[in-house]
Amino acid sequence: MPRPLSESTVLVTGASAGIGLSICRRLAPSKCGFVLAARSQDKLQQVATDLRQSGCEVLVIPTDVSQPNSIRDLARDSRQLSGRIDVLINNAGIECFADFDSLTEDAIQQTIATNLTGSILLTRHILPGMRAQKSGHIINMASTAGKHGPAFGAVYGATKAGLIAFTQSLRGELRGSGIEATAICPGFATDGGIYDDIVRMTGRRTPRHMGGTSAAAVAAAVENVIRKPRPEVILNFPWLRPVFVLREAFPAIGERLILAATRRFLRQASRPNRLN
Ligand SMILES: NC(=O)c1ccc[n+]([C@@H]2O[C@H](COP(=O)([O-])OP(=O)(O)OC[C@H]3O[C@@H](n4cnc5c(N)ncnc54)[C@H](OP(=O)(O)O)[C@@H]3O)[C@@H](O)[C@H]2O)c1
Repeated sequence: MPRPLSESTVLVTGASAGIGLSICRRLAPSKCGFVLAARSQDKLQQVATDLRQSGCEVLVIPTDVSQPNSIRDLARDSRQLSGRIDVLINNAGIECFADFDSLTEDAIQQTIATNLTGSILLTRHILPGMRAQKSGHIINMASTAGKHGPAFGAVYGATKAGLIAFTQSLRGELRGSGIEATAICPGFATDGGIYDDIVRMTGRRTPRHMGGTSAAAVAAAVENVIRKPRPEVILNFPWLRPVFVLREAFPAIGERLILAATRRFLRQASRPNRLN
C-alpha cells in the first residue's frame, strides 16, 4: 500500500518551471512535504512560497542534476525535511532537437547527463532510504520520444528510451520490495514547458494528427500513479499506444506511419536558427 500523500515527502527535480511546477501545484492540496530541486534558486523560492501558502512544508535545494556532486548533495540534504523521501520524481530535462550531425559534443553530453545520468544517479542515492523504509515510488519523466525514436531528436529520444528501460529494469528488481517505479511518457505538452518554447521559436504547433497533451494532464497522471501505481503511462491525444504496438509488430509499416505524422514538424522544430 502506498503511503498516503498527505504523509509523504515528494522530491521533484525540475520543479522551477513547466511540468515540474504543474506537478507541485497539483499535489499541493494533499499537503505533502516537498523537496524542490532545479538550478534557479529564485524561481524555486517563488514556488516554495506558493506551496507553503497551501500548507505544505517545503525544502529548496538548488541543484544541477548534470553534476554528480550536486546530486550527492541533493540526496544528502533532502533528508532534512522529514528524514525520508517517499516519492522521487525525476523530471528535470532539456530538449535537444537538431540534425544529429550538427550537435556539439558538449550538447550531447549535457543532454545525456541532465535527462538520463542525473535521474539514474539520484535514484541510486535515494533508493537505499526507500529500501530501509520498505516503501517508495520512483517516477521518471520520459516522453513519447522514448517510445519511437523521433527524427531530429536522436539524443533526446535516446535519453528518454533509456529512462523507460531503466524504469522497467527497476520494476523487475524491486518487485515485492514495496517500492514502485513508473515511466511517464507525455507527448508535446502545452501550458508551460519545452514544447511551448519550440512553438514560440518556430511559430508552429504540432499537426492535429500528431496531437499532444498538457502539463496539467501530465501532473494529474502523476498524482494518479502515486495513488494507484502503474508501470507506464503514455499521455497524448490522439492515443499513441496502438501505433507503438503496430510499430513493434510491423516495424516498416509502423515507421512509415510515425514519420508521416511527425517528421515535418520535428524538422521545423530542429531548425538551426532556434538552437543555441
Ligand atoms: N513539455 C513537453 O512537451 C514534454 C514532453 C515530454 C516530456 N517532457 C519532459 O518533461 C520534463 C520537464 O520538461 P518541461 O517541458 O517542463 O521543461 P522546462 O519547462 O524547460 O522545465 C525544465 C525543468 O528542468 C530544470 N532543469 C533543466 N536542466 C537542469 C539541470 N541541469 N539541473 C537541474 N534542473 C534542471 C529546469 O530548471 P532550471 O533551469 O532552473 O534548472 C526546469 O525546472 C523533461 O524531462 C522533459 O523532457 C516534456
